[in-house]
Amino acid sequence: MATENISAQEYEAFCRFLREACGIVLGQNKLYLVQSRLRRLLDEEKLDGIGQLIDAVASGRNLRIKGKIVDAMTTNETYWFRDLQPYTMMHEVLLPELLERASQPLRIWSAACSSGQEPYSISIVLDEFFRGRPRLRREVEIVATDISPTMLARAREGVYDELTISRGMEQERRERYFEQKDGAWRVKGDIRKRVKFVELNLMKNFSNLGHFDLIFCRNVLIYFSAELKKDILNRIADSLKPGSYLFLGGAESMASYCDRFETIRYKGGLVFKLKP
Ligand SMILES: C[S@@+](CC[C@H](N)C(=O)[O-])C[C@H]1O[C@@H](n2cnc3c(N)ncnc32)[C@H](O)[C@@H]1O
Repeated sequence: MATENISAQEYEAFCRFLREACGIVLGQNKLYLVQSRLRRLLDEEKLDGIGQLIDAVASGRNLRIKGKIVDAMTTNETYWFRDLQPYTMMHEVLLPELLERASQPLRIWSAACSSGQEPYSISIVLDEFFRGRPRLRREVEIVATDISPTMLARAREGVYDELTISRGMEQERRERYFEQKDGAWRVKGDIRKRVKFVELNLMKNFSNLGHFDLIFCRNVLIYFSAELKKDILNRIADSLKPGSYLFLGGAESMASYCDRFETIRYKGGLVFKLKP
């Protein structure tokens, strides 16, 4: 297996391929990352190095491999109620406002949902909110998208092992919203039913998803070029209903990428509201 011997040209060709396939921009010094992420794939496909991998994709011989490379190179790190603050803000500030004014149904988009913890956390917050305010109860649709078919399959299944469930899921919520299945934990039907999973590359047109009251686009733009961030944030703005909200990840900012949002601060966190 020859990942150790990547030439400068091969590394460059691979970076170009990855940027065009999924928007991820690899720096000069990320060769170690490419090597470690692709090692297993090269072994599985019995390919002798990145050159052969690029050839296989470029010649159109193997679309399946293209998906596998994107899967291997994307970071799927996620956990329940990540950073907590967006979920607190959603419960305490956004839902009361959105549910008073929203037309049916309320629509929420988890735009890079990985293995499902983000959309299911959103669904749990909704359940907790409605329990306390039955008068406001109404239909809610959560659309959860990701580029990775592997992550989406895991998310749809909604079954998590002990280690995965323990990352951010409190005991009380675990008992209320999950059932045990062969030593693992399965998201219960009501929480699952609200979430619709769809494969989607954020680089491509997503206007067919319709308009949303709230969008979570967290911990994915960080991998993209400034140009692509601008493009995606502007198209996200187009996908929000007037006066609706966007959460980015804790380490992500709006910077000068898009001036169509105002920043709202609450309890140490931020949400971006579409300007009128
Ligand atoms: C680090 S995870 C973030 C998961 C979740 N949003 C969170 O904050 O915990 C990033 C996800 O973005 C997805 N991703 C990467 N490039 C993408 C693209 N071009 N379009 C859509 N999803 C993409 C990956 O497959 C991965 O599941």
